[in-house]
Amino acid sequence: MGSSPIAALSRVVTRHGPGRVRSLRKDETMVRNCFAKFATGVVVVSMRDSNKIHGITVNCFTTVSLNPPLVLVSIDRQARAHGLLAGQSFTINVLTGDQAQLAVHFSGHPQDNLAIVWLPGYFVPRLAGALAHLECQPWDAYDVADHTLYVGLVSACAYRSGASALGFFESRYVQIAEDNEGGRSNERCCDSD
Ligand SMILES: Cc1cc2nc3c(=O)[nH]c(=O)nc-3n(C[C@H](O)[C@H](O)[C@H](O)COP(=O)(O)O)c2cc1C
Repeated sequence: MGSSPIAALSRVVTRHGPGRVRSLRKDETMVRNCFAKFATGVVVVSMRDSNKIHGITVNCFTTVSLNPPLVLVSIDRQARAHGLLAGQSFTINVLTGDQAQLAVHFSGHPQDNLAIVWLPGYFVPRLAGALAHLECQPWDAYDVADHTLYVGLVSACAYRSGASALGFFESRYVQIAEDNEGGRSNERCCDSD
């Protein structure tokens, strides 16, 4: 008799308990598929790499608190960005719906003839045309399995409206339209004290 995927996974969890995480590996596809049902935005995290700028495409980005303003990104230990972020400032560049090529480029698939324009920031340069950017100073870092959660204190930020956002859903890029009547474009910002 067939059983639903949800029942199958919960059986694995209850049979082995949280201490036996290894046994979940055989259900990795199931877990991946469930993760993929969680729609996210897409950001490029920029940071300094000697005298260059390094960027990495990330969807494991989340806000943490408003007071103080904290955000975090989860970075794979294997990524070049992992070492560059330790104790360093970084900028979160929230991508617009038409910046998918930038997301592809900064996820290890260099795109020929792609114009990448970095604008100067207070701490770390940001991508031109982004929907929002948040310049962060290092706050804390937490090692979790094969990733590190880098927490940053937002020290300068700005956004623009009138553009769609880039989303990631079921392993595909999607455009998330702004729900306003006029599609007016304007800019607001706050700077570090
Ligand atoms: C949509 C998308 C989201 C991603 N999110 C993350 C993430 O949250 N954390 C991470 O470490 N890698 C993430 N990656 C993978 C990195 O972008 C990719 O491994 C990149 O090549 C690492 O760059 P680096 O090694 O040059 O720093 C994501 C890739 C894609 C396409």
